[in-house]
Amino acid sequence: MKRDLLSLRDWTKQELLDCLSLAAELKAAGPMGSYSKALAGRSYALIFHKNSLRTRVSFEVGISQLGGSSMYLTDQDFKLGERESVADTAKVLSRYVDGILIRTYSHNLVEELGENASVPVVNMLTDFCHPCQILADAMTIQEHFKDLSATPICYLGDGNNVVHSWLNFASRVPITFIIGTTQSTLPDMELVEYTKKQGVSDVRVINDPVEAVRDAKILYTDVWASMGEKEKADERRKLLMPYQINSHILSKAASGAKVMHCLPAERGWEITSEVLDGPQSIVLDQAENRLHAQKAILLMLDRWFRS
Ligand code: CP
Ligand code: NVA
Repeated sequence: MKRDLLSLRDWTKQELLDCLSLAAELKAAGPMGSYSKALAGRSYALIFHKNSLRTRVSFEVGISQLGGSSMYLTDQDFKLGERESVADTAKVLSRYVDGILIRTYSHNLVEELGENASVPVVNMLTDFCHPCQILADAMTIQEHFKDLSATPICYLGDGNNVVHSWLNFASRVPITFIIGTTQSTLPDMELVEYTKKQGVSDVRVINDPVEAVRDAKILYTDVWASMGEKEKADERRKLLMPYQINSHILSKAASGAKVMHCLPAERGWEITSEVLDGPQSIVLDQAENRLHAQKAILLMLDRWFRS
């Protein structure tokens, strides 16, 4: 059966937890392990309309480690929705490849692609959410603290696509997720309310950064102006400086707290170099786990597709 990963809400709690277990198994097995031919003969189209280091490289390497092949496609190759309709592109690509992966601006465009493709579609980041990132992050938290539900997470900064994917995760898997931000940089509050209503997780929005980080075992941040909205950087810097992750704010979190950032970082703004490079930072584990988590995502989608 064709399934997609456009948002973490596309998958059940059990499917998300199974994906995290499979990711840990793949990491332990290594690139030459028993999964090295699991996607032999499969091809994937990777469409990028925004820059990427981690996502592109980890997907390309991951597909290759599973025995499959991938192709990198940009606006230079075809302008999605301009040269021909999104639906036509989805249907044609589905006759060639075993999965379509896309990073773009509009989340609606990715949904249209998903509705019209007969092969699995994976969201590699839209303006609205970044599901693959949060699966890798949840895996990283499990590695460091074992129990996700007993590890309060505080996100400080702009209420962006990364926050939205944490909220989607929280509507499925029980976590404590505190968002520390200003009234002008809130995430989608309908999504916050929806997530709270599911009654699965403890989700709060707190304006005071010191109060927000109290008891947090994970302090998480991301750039204050995401791709596609860099013109807002100056205004956000004025607003969000009190939410910077630095050694002072870190001292207010639970003792032994770890620091996460999906990267790329704008050092000296949302996070100081002292903390990013310091002993409590686990950002490189996070980056590495993109590889393992995404291999698990592709294997789960492939299993469903073949069954
Ligand atoms: N974290 C992340 O998605 O990084 P890239 O933008 O480099 O892919
Ligand atoms: N919120 C950031 C994440 C980058 C991985 C952006 O969308 O630019």
